[in-house]
Amino acid sequence: MGFTEFKTKNQYGLKKTNTSTPVRWIISHIFHYKLIFSLSLVFQLSASIFQSFVPLFIGAVAFVITQPPVDINQLLFFSVMILITGIGAGISNITKNILTEFISQRVERDARDELYTSMIGKSMTFHDRQAIGDLMARAAQDVRQLNMMLNPGLLLVLQSALGIIIPLIFISFIDVELLLFPLLFVISFLVFLRGYNKNLEKVAWKQRIAASKISSRLNEVISGMYVVRGASQQAQEKEIFDKNVNEFKGYAVQIGNIMARYWALLFLGVFTTLSLFHSVYLLDRQIITIGELIAFLGLLQLLRFPTFINVFAITIMSMGVASARRILELINQETLIDYNPSGISNQIKGDIAFKNVSFGYKPEIPVLKEISFDVNPGQTVAIVGMTGSGKTTITKLLSRLYDPQTGYISIDGYDLKDWNLETLRSQIGLVEQDVFLFSKSIKDNILLGSTTASEEDIINAAKLAKAHEFIQELPDGYETVIGERGITLSGGQRQRVAIARAILRNPAILILDDATSSIDSQTEDEINTAIKNVLQGRVSFLITHRIAQIRRADIIILIDKGKLVGIGDHTSLLRENIHYRSIFTTFDEFDLKTAVEPVIETKTEVR
Ligand SMILES: Nc1ncnc2c1ncn2[C@@H]1O[C@H](COP(=O)(O)OP(=O)(O)OP(=O)(O)O)[C@@H](O)[C@H]1O
Ligand SMILES: [Mg+2]
Repeated sequence: MGFTEFKTKNQYGLKKTNTSTPVRWIISHIFHYKLIFSLSLVFQLSASIFQSFVPLFIGAVAFVITQPPVDINQLLFFSVMILITGIGAGISNITKNILTEFISQRVERDARDELYTSMIGKSMTFHDRQAIGDLMARAAQDVRQLNMMLNPGLLLVLQSALGIIIPLIFISFIDVELLLFPLLFVISFLVFLRGYNKNLEKVAWKQRIAASKISSRLNEVISGMYVVRGASQQAQEKEIFDKNVNEFKGYAVQIGNIMARYWALLFLGVFTTLSLFHSVYLLDRQIITIGELIAFLGLLQLLRFPTFINVFAITIMSMGVASARRILELINQETLIDYNPSGISNQIKGDIAFKNVSFGYKPEIPVLKEISFDVNPGQTVAIVGMTGSGKTTITKLLSRLYDPQTGYISIDGYDLKDWNLETLRSQIGLVEQDVFLFSKSIKDNILLGSTTASEEDIINAAKLAKAHEFIQELPDGYETVIGERGITLSGGQRQRVAIARAILRNPAILILDDATSSIDSQTEDEINTAIKNVLQGRVSFLITHRIAQIRRADIIILIDKGKLVGIGDHTSLLRENIHYRSIFTTFDEFDLKTAVEPVIETKTEVR
C-alpha cells in the first residue's frame, strides 16, 4: 500500500519541488518560472554587454583625438553610441529588476504555501515535538529570507558574475595578453570567496537558530502570561529574553566582522595597478594603441562595482540558504500518518473494537498497555480513570491522531488504517478537554468543519448545547469575534460552544472529553438530555468524573496507568470490581450501599 500525505488543491496548485538539498529546492522553485527567469538572464546579459561597450567607445574617442586631424564626424558617432549603449544598459537593468522581483515574490508565496500545506498534514507526533514559536519563525522570517535571497541576493550575484565576465571578454577582444592580471585577480577572488562563504554560512545558520529561540520563548511567555505573572517570573523571563537577544546580536556582530574582512577590493586595487603597468608596457612595445589602453582601463574600472557588491550578495545568499535549510528540515520530516484518500469512505455504523492496543507518545514510554474492548452501535461508553491514566489518549487513537504501536483498532470491521482518514475524522465529533476556539466569530467557530449547515442549524445546535442564551447576550450575538485563544468566554461557555460545534457536525461517534467539567450540574443535565436525543443510535464516549453520567453508560471502561482494569456496566462493576468500588467510595455524593445491594466482595480481575 502506498503512503499518501495530506495534499490540498490550493489556488495556485501545489508545484513539484526537489527537497533533497536547500540549493536544489530553491532552484526547483525558480524553475517554475523558467521563461521569466530566462528573460531576466537575457536582460542581465544585455545590461552587462551595453555597459562594457561604453569604455570601448570612450577608448575609440581617445584614439580619434590622438590621431590628427581630428575627424569630428567620427567623434560625433562615438558620442552617440555612448549615449545609446548607456540608455540600453539602463533599460535592461530596469527590466531585469522588475522580472527578478516578480520571481522572488512568487517564489516566496509558493514556498510559504508548500510549508503551510506540509505543516497541516503532519502527524500529531510531529506537532507535539515542534515548538510553536520556532515553527512561526520558520514560516515567517525564513520564508521572507528566501525572497531576499532572490532579490537582491541572486540578482546581485548574477549581476556581479556577468559584470566581471563580460568586461573580461571585451578585454580579450582588445588583446588577449591584457587578460593576464585580470584573470589572476578573478582566480584569487574565487578562492577568497570560497573561504568567505563557508565562514559566513556557519554563522548565518547559527543566527537563524538564535532568532528562532527568541520567538519560541516570546510565544511561550505570551501564551502563558497568566502563569508568568502569577508566579512573578517577569524578571527571570526578561533575563532569559536578554540573553537570547544578546546571542542573536553576537552572531550579527560576527557576520559584520566577516564582512569587514572582505579583502576582494584590495586584491582588485593591486591587480588593477599591475594591469596598468602591463598595459603601459604593451603600449610601449606598440602591441596596443593609446585608445585601446584607455578602453582597457575603463573596462577594468567596471570590475569595481561587481567586486564590491558581492560582499552583500554573498551574505544575503548565505542567509537564504540557511533559511531554506531550516524550512526543508520541517518539510522533510516524516508525516507518519497515511491519509489514505482511496480508503473506505462509508457511513460509520458504530462497531468499534480495540484489540491489544499498546501505545506511547514515545514508543519507549508506554501510555496504553494491551487495551481491548468492543463497542456496539448506539452504545454510550464511559471511560473512567485517574488523571494521566490514558483516557484522552484512547480517544486520540480512535480519531487516528496517532497510530498504536502494536494491536489494532477497527470500526465496522475495518482497521482504522484502511479508512479514508478525512472521512473517518469527519464522522467523529470531539469536544476536547481544553477547548480551543479560533479568533473568529462564534458562528464560524460552531460552523467549523460543517460546510452545509444553515443559520437555523447553527442556532439549533447552540440551543441544544445551552449556548444560545449567552451567545445572544454578547455584543454582536453569533457574529461576536472571540479574542485570542477564546479568552473572552468563560470555561463553561467555551465548552458549550464546542459542544454546539460537535452537535452540528452530526457525528457518528461523539467524544466528550471532560466536556462538561466547567458547567454547573443543572445545565449539564439539560445538555446531556439534549445530546442523548440528538445522538440516538450513535456511539458516544464520555470521559467524566460525574457519577450520574458514569452510571447511565452502557459500558464503563476502567483504566489505571494505561491498563484496562475493568469493563462492564455500573452494577456489575460495582459488584465485581475493587478498582471501581475504590473510585466510587471517594465520591462524597455517592452512597455505596444504596447503589447495589448486597455488595459482594470478589477478587478483582486485572487484565
Ligand atoms: N502529547 C503528548 N506527548 C507526550 N506524552 C503525553 C502527551 N499527551 C499525554 N501524554 C502522557 O500520556 C499519559 C496519559 O495522558 P492522557 O492525556 O491520556 O491522560 P488522561 O487519562 O486523559 O488524564 P486526565 O484525566 O488528566 O485528562 C500521561 O502520562 C501524559 O503525560
Ligand atoms: Mg484527559
